[in-house]
Amino acid sequence: VCGLFFALGSVSSKKLVVFTVASENNDGYNRFIDSANLYNIKTKILGLNKPWQGGNMNGVGGGYKLNLYLEALEPYKNNDNIVVLLTDAYDVVLLADSTTVLNKFIEFNSSIVISTENSCWPNGKLADQYPTVDQNGYRFINSGGIIGYASQLYKLLSEKPIKNLADDQLHLTNLYLNTDLREKFNIKLDNYAKLFQNIYLAEDDIKLKLVNKSYVLENINFNTQPAILHGNGLSKMTFNSYTNYIPNKWSPESGCNTCYDNNLDLSTLKEEDYPIVLLSIIVDKPTPFFDEFLDKIENIDYPRSRVFLSITTLVDYHKEQVDKFILKIGDKYNASFVFHKTVEDSIHARHLSFSLCTSKSCDYLFYIENEAHLDNPQTLKILIQLNKKIIAPMLTRPFKAWSNFWGALSSEGFYARSHDYMDIVNYNKTGTWNVPYIGSCYLMKGKILENKYNRPSYKGNNLDYDMAFCKSLRDKGVFMYIDNHHTYGHLIDSESFDITLKNPEVYQIFENRYDWTQRYIHPEYTDNFNPDKKPAEPCPDVFWFPIVTEQFCKEFIEIMENFGQWSDGTNNDTRLRTGYEAVPTRDIHMNQVGLEKHWLEFLRSYVQPLQKKAFIGYAHDPPRSLMNFVVKYNPLGQASLRPHHDSSTYTINIALNSPGKDYQGGGCHFLRYKCKVTDLKIGWMLMHPGRLTHYHEGLEVINGTRYIMISFIDP
Ligand code: UGA
Repeated sequence: VCGLFFALGSVSSKKLVVFTVASENNDGYNRFIDSANLYNIKTKILGLNKPWQGGNMNGVGGGYKLNLYLEALEPYKNNDNIVVLLTDAYDVVLLADSTTVLNKFIEFNSSIVISTENSCWPNGKLADQYPTVDQNGYRFINSGGIIGYASQLYKLLSEKPIKNLADDQLHLTNLYLNTDLREKFNIKLDNYAKLFQNIYLAEDDIKLKLVNKSYVLENINFNTQPAILHGNGLSKMTFNSYTNYIPNKWSPESGCNTCYDNNLDLSTLKEEDYPIVLLSIIVDKPTPFFDEFLDKIENIDYPRSRVFLSITTLVDYHKEQVDKFILKIGDKYNASFVFHKTVEDSIHARHLSFSLCTSKSCDYLFYIENEAHLDNPQTLKILIQLNKKIIAPMLTRPFKAWSNFWGALSSEGFYARSHDYMDIVNYNKTGTWNVPYIGSCYLMKGKILENKYNRPSYKGNNLDYDMAFCKSLRDKGVFMYIDNHHTYGHLIDSESFDITLKNPEVYQIFENRYDWTQRYIHPEYTDNFNPDKKPAEPCPDVFWFPIVTEQFCKEFIEIMENFGQWSDGTNNDTRLRTGYEAVPTRDIHMNQVGLEKHWLEFLRSYVQPLQKKAFIGYAHDPPRSLMNFVVKYNPLGQASLRPHHDSSTYTINIALNSPGKDYQGGGCHFLRYKCKVTDLKIGWMLMHPGRLTHYHEGLEVINGTRYIMISFIDP
């Protein structure tokens, strides 16, 4: 009778009131409130800033919520026009306005509607007592979402007391399974997610759909558009991912709608008013291109008077570079601290920077590991302006899908690829994304470190420090964000970095191509391809291109001299299959220093494109070369090379040092053309045909040592 009576009411005569419980004003709470505000739905928060008395929510508990609800319903106990929605806060968002919610509720023809899920929790034995449900509807109660007339809810919850620590879901289940009560209150379950969608064990049922240029949530099993979304139980990370898009968070048309809502503005601040930042650099493994890493640290655009610098060096390999860096820039910052620790201390070292941050009353801790290259000097400022508790700039390994965040979490807590991971990594979707894992570099507010006993921690059961850290943030309900509105930088791949080699970066052409190119390819290299630019041609069909940097030349010579086993310049050469060299030089072959495959890649990537420009119509893919070697000319050993042909289609000859400065004399003489190239430029490459027309000799070095890199291509 009651049900009939209430169902007859029209929406216009009803009013929706929302009650939720939140003991803490945390990220989840704020997300809930934002969604309510979006739909102009007024919400009454119960238990805010009071100790949570509902027990540990990883197991049974939550009776406290029902007691708070009962207390809050008391003033409405005789009101039949008020419809009350009781909902969890931390893992819930509203997806519709009051009218929609009321309409959906009224369609149930019921006094109380309870949300459902696929698992009968916490007491699975009660499953059989539930009515069966057609079409695979969700059969079991979830206590995170209840809606009903105020008077009826009050009466239902008054039926039986519940202890704060007892389980609210079990309590509600027992009330519902009591058929007398079920009928008395005309309780119905929302088996088809008309109002409530609980995500756990229903992940495959839901989908985002674009409607009028923005996303709505659709249950594709039941063709419904739920009005309340709940990341119950173990579905919190999936839920977080959905809430990057809904309600009204992100759309293909407008991008991120709320990312800039609460941003800080640093542009109007005077230097002395800038937030205080502890810049905590953790050097925890030998990593290539570390000098460049430090340069980028130095380039961070932020008032240095507001920065405390902490560098923790956990590996000896980089100690000298760090010392030099400190010497160079240390006193420009507020203060500097350098620790040299052993690896066992790496977790402790990280925690130390928390204490350091609080002891300096820092507003932010900017954490950077040495694989994180901040190419964008504005990174720190941008991150501060985004105003999150913890946020990472998206960094990727160039040309790879590897990044410093995870889009999703597997059930075991490891990496899982989210539906949008590739879109985010590739900047097809840009915004500030709530994700379950961030690493390598992030900015956190000093606030989350203030309470010594409630800090995030890098220490966790059998977990790597980074995973433990993110887990502790997740457990605390702190949202981690990754931002890809801007490009910030990239990650170095240090996995195969072999520090036993001399100048090991030279060997990194495959693993860290981007950095390799930055360090070693001549800054004017790309100019070679400018269609308006004709390559220099110092002698007929001898082309001349800038190709590698001076640093490349220097490091290359060092690798050769460190190896030191120059050939003796005689015709007998055991390195060759035939054992005989007709035109011998004093040289070292690439395969003697482990650089053969690297060099072939260099020929393919950087030399061949130039060859195609110089000698149009010739292409042999990939270029082949059996003879790749560095030649050393000096008056004490071999000073010159007699006229000869090369066994190549074309030859390249890169000057590794400078005439006039490093040596006197030298150069290349093309006899047929009576043409000499002697004003060689370091890092520049000569390219000429090997045979017939380009009979040539190496001119005498009178003083000093001349080094050149030679390849006989397509012999
Ligand atoms: C699931 C159900 O969704 C809950 O409705 C139910 O109370 C709980 O199981 C149970 O029966 O134990 P779950 O999603 O795992 O809950 O739990 P939480 O979301 O962590 O907690 C439920 C709600 O209680 C929170 O959303 C929040 O509104 C409130 N809460 C919890 C606090 O206000 N403070 C706390 O410290 C913990």
